[in-house]
Amino acid sequence: MFTRFRRKRLNPKLRDLLQETHVRVDDFIYPLFIKSGEGIKNEVASMPGVFQMSIDEIIKECATLKELGIYSIILFGIPDIKDSVGSDALCEHGIIASAIKEIKKAHPDMFVVTDLCFCEYTDHGHCGVLDPILETVDNDITLDNLAKQAVIHAKAGADMIAPSGMMDGMITAIRDGLDMVGYSHIPIMSYSTKFSSAYYGPFRDVAESAPSFGDRRSYQMNPANRKEAILESLEDEKEGADILMVKPALAYMDIIRDIKENSMLPLAVYNVSGEYSMLKMASKAGVIDYDRVMMETMIGFKRAGADIIISYHAKEVAKLLNN
Ligand code: PBG
Ligand code: ZN
Repeated sequence: MFTRFRRKRLNPKLRDLLQETHVRVDDFIYPLFIKSGEGIKNEVASMPGVFQMSIDEIIKECATLKELGIYSIILFGIPDIKDSVGSDALCEHGIIASAIKEIKKAHPDMFVVTDLCFCEYTDHGHCGVLDPILETVDNDITLDNLAKQAVIHAKAGADMIAPSGMMDGMITAIRDGLDMVGYSHIPIMSYSTKFSSAYYGPFRDVAESAPSFGDRRSYQMNPANRKEAILESLEDEKEGADILMVKPALAYMDIIRDIKENSMLPLAVYNVSGEYSMLKMASKAGVIDYDRVMMETMIGFKRAGADIIISYHAKEVAKLLNN
């Protein structure tokens, strides 16, 4: 007997009518990695389909993205020269400032988000200035630098700033820094609940940002902590964040739901490098139907409570949604 559940699943049109959760191209932000030089497009072995690109190649890539309907990108800079403070990130002519200017000039209709952190720019690979005694990042000196870095991004033309360093008080510092010089209209999307995760492994190859000693456990969160995860995001809301984030995504679906239910702010999830590479490698090994597993994963993020998905899969998802 076909009763209340199965009779609603018989007809594909009715299945469509009853679908509760949807993935749209507009849900996505696509990450891009920028290196200096010209004509550079290096594929990263651990992340097939992801490239380090020079600005001219990024500009071509933006045209491709727009054809697919993707108008939002998040930028990561890979500077030529790294030092103890990450000076390239604080310079108006640094890699990221130059990239923002060129991209906005060529593609004024692109929504340009910038990742705000120091790990790609420091020679030690940590997310800020080091405290020599504690041998980890000095919180408050880093806050001053984050505010400066945010202003550099905003001046260059960034549309939204996304601080990812997990410093205490970072949203207050960045908001004040931006407001003081006339950028109160620039929203902040905080990496508000970011775990210390082994899923970031492949990203550190692309961004050349692996810490040279130790790890990030004194600033990123312990994956085991749920209450602290909610508090971290609520704190950023209090400090004035406009959008919250959970990162990584796949192993943290419960946290996505928890934060969605504890805050009225829009919520982003970062479908990180290791999550992407797992699907790629499983597909190469012939053990999964890649497209279907990818779409099921995206639907899962939305169902869990995500409004925005930052993903290396964005182009592939767009292709599937478009046809
Ligand atoms: C920088 C940053 C990281 C990611 C985004 N911004 C790496 C890290 O914290 O080590 C990870 C993204 C990914 O794995 O795709 N703080
Ligand atoms: Zn960092």
